[in-house]
Amino acid sequence: MTEATTTKTLKALEISGLSHSFKNHKALNNVNFSVPAKSIHGFVGPNGAGKTTTLKAIATLLKPQHGTVKVFGTNVVTDYKEVRTKIGFMPDHFSMYRQMSVFEYLDFFAAAYGLNLKERDQVIGDVLALTDMEGRKDDLIKGLSRGMQQRVSLARVLVHDPDLLLLDEPASGLDPRARIELMEILQELRDMGKTIFISSHILSELADLCDSVTILDRGTVKYTGDMKGLLTQGNEDDQHVFRLTQTSYSSSFMQALKETEGVIDIETNEEIHHTVYKITFSKDKCSTNQILKLAIESEVEVLEFKEDLKHLNEAFMNLTEAGVREK
Ligand SMILES: Nc1ncnc2c1ncn2[C@@H]1O[C@H](COP(=O)(O)OP(=O)(O)OP(=O)(O)O)[C@@H](O)[C@H]1O
Ligand SMILES: [Mg+2]
Repeated sequence: MTEATTTKTLKALEISGLSHSFKNHKALNNVNFSVPAKSIHGFVGPNGAGKTTTLKAIATLLKPQHGTVKVFGTNVVTDYKEVRTKIGFMPDHFSMYRQMSVFEYLDFFAAAYGLNLKERDQVIGDVLALTDMEGRKDDLIKGLSRGMQQRVSLARVLVHDPDLLLLDEPASGLDPRARIELMEILQELRDMGKTIFISSHILSELADLCDSVTILDRGTVKYTGDMKGLLTQGNEDDQHVFRLTQTSYSSSFMQALKETEGVIDIETNEEIHHTVYKITFSKDKCSTNQILKLAIESEVEVLEFKEDLKHLNEAFMNLTEAGVREK
């Protein structure tokens, strides 16, 4: 096997047969999934699904009762010290030393990881640049907004240069702008070669960010795989649903759609400044290029054309609802 192949197939995380109960409540029930290295993996589920319990098991903070967890091939129970050097865990609720400045806070953790003064200066500069917090390094933590505290917290988990980041709902409580900025930082980290494992309640929030996703409900994996597979899961196998936005309604486009072989359903929604068409069509008989061509030919400006995101939410609801019904 070439080195390139090895890197490509290397798993950052492998979870097999993971089960854990609190008293007689089964929080995790035979959880199996894996995460390829250098990718972003979303871990999505409703409240109480078992996300934090799984994250704690990976982060060596909870000893699983059954099953194995491996981080870059290293067992989290038998070789927990080695695993700890490879991971950076950002919990959902974190308390910070509020009287410290951002620099002091990061310096404290860098020292705890055994970095000397010179290394600490270098690394703190790097993580502050990455999280765009250079200008705030002398500010007291207590004076920072939640979004900025999240960034400092992210900077903290980066000081020992871990390969796998474990982020438990890092976007919760952030305004839309701060969320987008956080997602951009995470993409940058992935491009640097880190693996990011990020949990959330909201699938659509992670859809654009993640390479793959695992959906957990009541301690059971409902889906694991790439986003594309999730989108098409539960769909009619042979159908696509796309959303096309134009600046206004076009009757000629509508007519052309109706006359196109393979178009199964068209829903329109006319807003003040644009019109959205939700188009369901057969994968075999029709193509996205064909639909887009018709829209362009209609001479009404196309603003957007993409796979229907609502479908993602529907997929999530269907998967997690199934868990409720089973009980
Ligand atoms: N220390 C504990 N003692 C008892 N029960 C626990 C403990 N930790 C978790 N649980 C239970 O295990 C289940 C899974 O909890 P967990 O915190 O892992 O879910 P979660 O998916 O992170 O939920 P949330 O989205 O609310 O953060 C829940 O029913 C929870 O009440
Ligand atoms: Mg949780």
